[in-house]
Amino acid sequence: METQKLLYASVFLLICTAKAINPEAEALLRWKSTLIQANSLSSWSIANSTCSWFGITCDHAGQVTEINLPNTGLHGTLHAFYSALYQNLTKIDLNNNNLVSTIPANISMLLTLTFLYLSSNNLFGAIPYQLSKLPMIVEIDLGNNHLTNPDPAKFVLPSTLKRLSLPNNDISGPLPHSLPEMVPRLRYLNMSFNGFSGSIPSSFSGLHKLKTLDLGNNNLTGGIPEELGMISGLQTLLLYSNPLGGSIPASLGQLQLLEVLGIYNASLVSTLPPELGNLTSLQGMVLPQNQLYGSLPPSFGRIQELQFFEIDGNSISGTFPVELFTNWTKLRLLDVSSNLFSGSILWQISN
Ligand SMILES: *[C@@H]1O[C@H](CO)[C@@H](O)[C@H](O)[C@H]1NC(C)=O
Ligand SMILES: *[C@@H]1O[C@H](CO)[C@@H](O)[C@H](O)[C@H]1NC(C)=O
Ligand SMILES: *[C@@H]1O[C@H](CO)[C@@H](O)[C@H](O)[C@H]1NC(C)=O
Ligand SMILES: *[C@@H]1O[C@H](CO)[C@@H](O)[C@H](O)[C@H]1NC(C)=O
Ligand SMILES: *[C@@H]1O[C@H](CO)[C@@H](O)[C@H](O)[C@H]1NC(C)=O
Ligand SMILES: *[C@@H]1O[C@H](CO)[C@@H](O)[C@H](O)[C@H]1NC(C)=O
Ligand SMILES: *[C@@H]1O[C@H](CO)[C@@H](O)[C@H](O)[C@H]1NC(C)=O
Ligand SMILES: *[C@@H]1O[C@H](CO)[C@@H](O)[C@H](O)[C@H]1NC(C)=O
Repeated sequence: METQKLLYASVFLLICTAKAINPEAEALLRWKSTLIQANSLSSWSIANSTCSWFGITCDHAGQVTEINLPNTGLHGTLHAFYSALYQNLTKIDLNNNNLVSTIPANISMLLTLTFLYLSSNNLFGAIPYQLSKLPMIVEIDLGNNHLTNPDPAKFVLPSTLKRLSLPNNDISGPLPHSLPEMVPRLRYLNMSFNGFSGSIPSSFSGLHKLKTLDLGNNNLTGGIPEELGMISGLQTLLLYSNPLGGSIPASLGQLQLLEVLGIYNASLVSTLPPELGNLTSLQGMVLPQNQLYGSLPPSFGRIQELQFFEIDGNSISGTFPVELFTNWTKLRLLDVSSNLFSGSILWQISN
């Protein structure tokens, strides 16, 4: 009789304890236990309520919705990270840590995930093609790692994507022509410092929502497609350090909202199209180290927002149109050195 009571009591106790441990907490602690370095996670203990843990955000129901641990010195892998117990996780921010090894494919089982930030770690291996299956993903940032191409036969970008940032990895091959069909809502694309080759697809003109395009420091050839002038909302266009060649298309003058044009060190052989004077929002024209020739178009005087004008290391000739300075009232940096200008520019400027 007494033994039976004791047994009931201990079973009851067991059930109570089991209920008290939030299953999500258990999953988080399991991952924490695999980390080599997790000093910043001292509040992660069952004694504290999960929702009060450092970096954890919960919804009204007490379910974990965000894991925000950027720049917290975490060292370890993501292999034990995924758990089917996360019902409502929308954001993972682990930027700027020392996460190593591969991105486990089972992260793609987090069907509520909207933001995935894993940039500036030491992740390597192929980007898991399973990320294609995240139905609610809006922003992916995997920059500054050592990641390689996803399986091209199985990978498609999720159509919900608005921001894709993959700079400074080891991704190579051609840029996908079908990008506008895959990700029509894309606003930000950063593929800089990779090994992309081939030409910039003219189909990119179909990225109607695009505001930022950074394809710098790759191995892109085949010139600047004039169709880029059709991306009417474009604010930042960076194509620097590619063996692009060809000329600057006059169509770029149609980019009414363009603020930064950075196409230095790109083997351009071109005059400066007068149409660029229509870029009335432009703050930075950065075109050094090309083979630009001809004279500076007086129409550039219409670029009243200009703060940075850099065309050093080209073959621009003629006199520097002094009229430009009456309108470039916001100018902060001017570098026109190593060109073929006639007359003293300094004299002209001081006047
Ligand atoms: C909760 O975590 C903090 C560390 O951030 C710790 O000082 C505190 O003792 C914990 N509370 C309990 C009840 O364990
Ligand atoms: C997730 O994937 C990693 C790496 O492949 C594996 O070690 C881990 O057991 C998986 N987790 C679950 C819950 O399937
Ligand atoms: C997830 O969160 C939303 C609101 O953010 C809520 O409506 C929903 O019930 C939650 N789902 C679960 C499974 O908790
Ligand atoms: C693209 O990513 C690189 C590397 O992180 C960064 O330095 C650069 O500012 C980004 N470009 C834009 C336009 O945000
Ligand atoms: C760039 O592409 C060319 C072929 O177009 C190739 O010969 C060269 O090795 C590539 N360079 C780099 C650094 O990948
Ligand atoms: C110029 O661009 C090439 C690629 O075309 C790159 O390898 C080189 O490092 C760049 N040079 C500078 C100074 O950025
Ligand atoms: C753009 O500039 C050129 C030359 O400066 C001019 O002929 C043309 O009409 C302008 N286009 C628009 C749309 O303003
Ligand atoms: C300076 O800007 C005004 C206003 O946009 C414009 O009317 C004028 O033509 C510009 N001057 C030059 C030299 O381009």
